[in-house]
Amino acid sequence: MKLLIGFSGRRGGNCDQIAEYAAAEGDRIVYFRDMKAHPCSGCDYECFSGACRYRPDGVYDLYEAMHGCEKVVLIVPMYCGNPSSLYFIFNERGQDYFSHSDVWDDIVKRLYVIGVYGSARITPGFVPCLGKWFEGTPYKNRVLGVERHRNGQRIGDRVLDVEEFRREIKAFLE
Ligand SMILES: Cc1cc2nc3c(=O)[nH]c(=O)nc-3n(C[C@H](O)[C@H](O)[C@H](O)COP(=O)(O)O)c2cc1C
Repeated sequence: MKLLIGFSGRRGGNCDQIAEYAAAEGDRIVYFRDMKAHPCSGCDYECFSGACRYRPDGVYDLYEAMHGCEKVVLIVPMYCGNPSSLYFIFNERGQDYFSHSDVWDDIVKRLYVIGVYGSARITPGFVPCLGKWFEGTPYKNRVLGVERHRNGQRIGDRVLDVEEFRREIKAFLE
């Protein structure tokens, strides 16, 4: 079973479409915007010594759910040159999860990241930023950049209209 997590703030856009395209029967899709996840703010850093006060919002449970999955696919749009803030909320909330359990490798070994953006020339740091999970690990080729400009697409275009993108996404997750 794959777990696909989309980090776009928009319903029905490219990230949602990629998640739905990549999901097979029995896979689970989570639209992170719907979780109403609390950002790492307005707390006293309880996660370093105990439990994060925001656990009831389900982010901890989402990390927990990754263990049972064959693959976990994070689908991340670029907003203003960076991964979206929803992705950073998820990332930071991992502090609570990873500081209480020795599971980093067990999660990262299942992880695949797809980034949706315009141009590698204009924003060369986007794809490497998504690869931070894998620094110092043996896991290679875990980040796929869907670079719209490569196929002449503009901001409002549907990336799945391009056969090359569809093929790359399927091959990446095989
Ligand atoms: C606030 C905001 C900022 C964006 N900034 C960029 C950007 O800097 N570079 C870029 O290539 N695309 C940018 N985009 C376009 C998104 O990456 C693009 O629309 C992508 O398809 C978003 O995913 P979605 O279709 O799933 O919503 C931005 C979109 C939004 C909403």
